[in-house]
Amino acid sequence: MKKITVKDFRERKGEKKISLLTAYDASTARLLESAGIDALLVGDSLGMVVLGYDSTLPVTMEQMLHHAGAVSRGTERALVIGDMPFGSYQISAEQAVANGLRFMKEAGCAAVKVEGGSDICTIVRALVRAGVPVMGHIGLTPQTAGQMGGFKVQGKDMAAARKLLADAKALEEVGIFSLVLEALPASLAAVITATVSVPTIGIGAGPHCDGQVLVTNDLLGLFEKFLPSFVKQYVNLAPEIKKAVQGYICEVENGAFPRTEHSFASKEDFTALLAKAEDSSS
Ligand code: KIV
Repeated sequence: MKKITVKDFRERKGEKKISLLTAYDASTARLLESAGIDALLVGDSLGMVVLGYDSTLPVTMEQMLHHAGAVSRGTERALVIGDMPFGSYQISAEQAVANGLRFMKEAGCAAVKVEGGSDICTIVRALVRAGVPVMGHIGLTPQTAGQMGGFKVQGKDMAAARKLLADAKALEEVGIFSLVLEALPASLAAVITATVSVPTIGIGAGPHCDGQVLVTNDLLGLFEKFLPSFVKQYVNLAPEIKKAVQGYICEVENGAFPRTEHSFASKEDFTALLAKAEDSSS
């Protein structure tokens, strides 16, 4: 099976829309890939949807590598992108390169994603020069949502829109292969998409981007804490899972499970063994 490369990704701009979803484990990665997904992002949303944190900030490199490795092992064709967690690339270009290389060497990722605009261009340039393909991420950047006053739509006025457009161009200049646009007005995402030569991947950024990404647990109805307004839930699995588990509990309690077909038989007759065990315990 031919692996999708970052070059294929770039060539899709203006040709065919790109579909991405997040994944955090091998079996989900296998399922998403068998449905035909183009790329899997091992997002630091891991912290919130899998590890039970209230934000993405506590997620560590070791946790990301652990899950990114699992996703890579469950994937044959899709492009696997590792999300660099908070604190793993902001200190220096050297730190960013060392951690970016770990995503490729230890977790089998084809690329990494970093959040930020012109402020992180030196870091992005160093990563690209070291051979680590980089996906940018601007707009609402969850790792710095605190500084933005929370999880809010970005680029609503002209000054903010100009800054985001400048950020997109600066990141393109230092070699990103793709750019996530999160929580932006659709009309601004359209302008950025038309301006940069790399594919834009929208999340809450309208229909004009070159591709879309969603958190898989949101799309499948597996994360019940909250649902961002831009998410379309294609199926609501949480009630189905609860119903199945309630059925299991009920059958365990009333003895309906397991049945003969779920049990192992033996040609031996163990009644003598029982009699012996009872004798020795009396
Ligand atoms: O962490 C994540 O899952 C993300 C995407 C949703 C863009 O950054």
